[in-house]
Amino acid sequence: MKIVQTINELKKAVHIEKKNGKTIGLVPTMGFLHEGHLTLAEQARKENDMVIMSIFVNPLQFGPNEDFERYPRDPERDAKLAESAGVDLLFMPAVKEMYPEEPAVTLTVHKRTNALCGLSREGHFDGVATVVMKLFHMAEANRAYFGKKDAQQLAVIHGLVDSLNVPVKIVGVETVRETDGLAKSSRNVYLLPEERKKAPAIYKALQSIKTAVEAGNTNTETLKQQARLRLENETGANVEYVEILSYPELEPIKEAHGTVIAAAAVKYKHARLIDNIILTVKGRV
Ligand code: PAF
Repeated sequence: MKIVQTINELKKAVHIEKKNGKTIGLVPTMGFLHEGHLTLAEQARKENDMVIMSIFVNPLQFGPNEDFERYPRDPERDAKLAESAGVDLLFMPAVKEMYPEEPAVTLTVHKRTNALCGLSREGHFDGVATVVMKLFHMAEANRAYFGKKDAQQLAVIHGLVDSLNVPVKIVGVETVRETDGLAKSSRNVYLLPEERKKAPAIYKALQSIKTAVEAGNTNTETLKQQARLRLENETGANVEYVEILSYPELEPIKEAHGTVIAAAAVKYKHARLIDNIILTVKGRV
C-alpha cells in the first residue's frame, strides 16, 4: 500500500490507473478506523481495480464548539488497518494541503439538512459536501463508499451527485455493530464505562420502533414518544432527538409508510452518539 500526503502524488497515481482503463473506488474517512470503515474498504476492494482511502479530519465540517482538535487520531494504526482491508493508496493530506488558503468557493446544501443532526450542527453538511466534492475530483473516483450509520450524510451526498451531475456512483454500506448492537463509531472511545454499558439501548429503542411499525402502529408521533421515553430511561444520556422521517428526503411524516428512517442522537458526557434504521413499510392505507 502506498501512502501519499500531497494532491500531486495522489493525482499521479490516479492518472496511471485511469490511463490503463482501471476503475477507482474511494473510501473517504476521518481516520481512527474501526470495522465500519474496513467494511467500506473491503466492499470497494471487491468492486474496483484500485481502492483509495482518504484520511482527513476536515475542519470545514466542525462547528466552533465541536471536537475538531480532540477528534481521535492514530495514523500509524490506521495505515496498518487500511492495508489489511485491501487499500492500495492511502491519502493523508495536512489541512494546509487541502485548504492552502480560505477557499474562494464552498458548497451550500439546501435540502435534507433541516432535520436530525443538521439542526444542531449548522454548516456541518456544507463542509462535508465541499470536502467530498474535492476528494471525488482528486481521486477521479468511479464509486465512493459511505456508511449507512451516517444516513443523513449519505442522503446529502446522494443529493450532491444528483444536483451537480457528479459522475460518481455512491454506494451505501450497512452499519457495523458491536455484538451488543451499539453502532461502531470513532467517538465510542469517549464513552465512560458506565455509559458504554447503557449505550446499546439506542439501537434497542430504534428496533422497538421497527417492531411497532411491523405490528401496524404507524403513527409517527406515538412511535417517537414511546421511543424517547425508552431512550431517556435506558441510555442514561440526554436525548437530543428521536425522529421518524421520509428517506432520503428527510421530510416530516404523520404515518410511517414507504421508505422511512428512524433516527436518534443522544449526548453522553464526552460523546454524542447517533444511530438509525431505515425501514420500507408496505401497504399504505
Ligand atoms: O463520514 C466521515 O467520516 C466524514 O464526514 C467524511 C465523509 C470523510 C467527510 O469528511
